[in-house]
Amino acid sequence: MADLSVTVNGLKMPNPFVIGSGPPGTNANVIGKAFDEGWGAVIAKTVSLDASKVINVAPRYGRLRGNDRKDIFGWENIELISDRDFDVWIDEFKQIKDKYPDRILIASIMEEYNKDAWIEIVERCQDCGVDAFELNFSCPHGMPERKMGAAMGEDPELLEEVCGWVMAATKIPVWAKMTPNITHIEDPTRSSLKAGCDGIAAINTIRSVIGVNLDTLRPEPSVEGYTTPGGYSCKAVRPIALRMCMEIATVIKDEYPGRTLSGIGGIETGEDAAQFILLGSDTVQVCTGVMKYGYAHVKTMCDQLSAFMDKHNFKSIEDFKGQSLQYFTTHTHLVELQAKAKADAKAASAKKKMVAKDAEWSGDDFVKQSDALGSN
Ligand SMILES: Cc1cc2nc3c(=O)[nH]c(=O)nc-3n(C[C@H](O)[C@H](O)[C@H](O)COP(=O)(O)O)c2cc1C
Repeated sequence: MADLSVTVNGLKMPNPFVIGSGPPGTNANVIGKAFDEGWGAVIAKTVSLDASKVINVAPRYGRLRGNDRKDIFGWENIELISDRDFDVWIDEFKQIKDKYPDRILIASIMEEYNKDAWIEIVERCQDCGVDAFELNFSCPHGMPERKMGAAMGEDPELLEEVCGWVMAATKIPVWAKMTPNITHIEDPTRSSLKAGCDGIAAINTIRSVIGVNLDTLRPEPSVEGYTTPGGYSCKAVRPIALRMCMEIATVIKDEYPGRTLSGIGGIETGEDAAQFILLGSDTVQVCTGVMKYGYAHVKTMCDQLSAFMDKHNFKSIEDFKGQSLQYFTTHTHLVELQAKAKADAKAASAKKKMVAKDAEWSGDDFVKQSDALGSN
């Protein structure tokens, strides 16, 4: 039986499945439920010092369904970070760590471009016992209007400065969460790692418009007849997330060995998780999948991942982490490889046609057969 446990930046987890920041980690009650069901770690919903500025609307989700209207492929949200009071969160972080001292609780934090605010949020969260931080530089809606979230994540210089403030204040591991709404994800990755962050988490949601209602002509989700672009998640984003994780893992492998990657984006099965791990992820996060299938789904995903590992005789996650990265190359190299493969196949088939015994000579192919037997 495969061993699913992982130790990432010194954090010991029973399996690599982590609740991604969002509704599934939005208060102590649901975080406790996640631990009870067996999740490897939980990242709480993003908190900031002043929740009074966070005002959510309803509806705030829009979904893309298959033709049968049952399966959900894509999920847009225009939800903000947590609207719960920071002092309430501090109490709940303490309560959770008292009740689950051995389980990994990660605080997701976000602040404005203000050094004192970042230092205060880091110090107050770590004092109540959380195990690590995830820095939310990636919320694509609402917060950028206040120069928070993706507004920072899209600016590698700003990111390096803010990560530097956090790294100077923290005593616990820090993951920087990337926005995918940028052309080259390697740039903010390098800035965060250069500033000393222990790991990268990617991806947050992709800026999107889920659709337009053809009866009302209003884009969705419609709030009093209007909307604003939101963040896209669920399995439709998985190929984009896999590509970005591959790029980040390559930077880590080549330039920052030992730093870690938490892969996120459309993960719903153990097989999905295996692909992120094969492309260099140490852990995988699930957010929308929990909203679709519930907390108990972690057991199914662990069974599926375990079956994949048994099939390949992998004993631990480390045994196959990053193993598929070696199969990426340039298109030019693909053309060269294919030309060589064709030439090799031609040579092999010519060799195969060589006359081995006198009885094999045939009148029709006589010249070709004679030629094949020549050495020049
Ligand atoms: C409704 C909703 C709320 C979210 N809220 C947050 C948040 O507060 N902080 C954060 O870092 N990411 C947030 N996310 C992003 C997720 O953590 C995750 O990065 C993204 O949804 C992709 O993963 P998934 O396809 O498994 O959901 C939210 C996602 C959804 C769907």
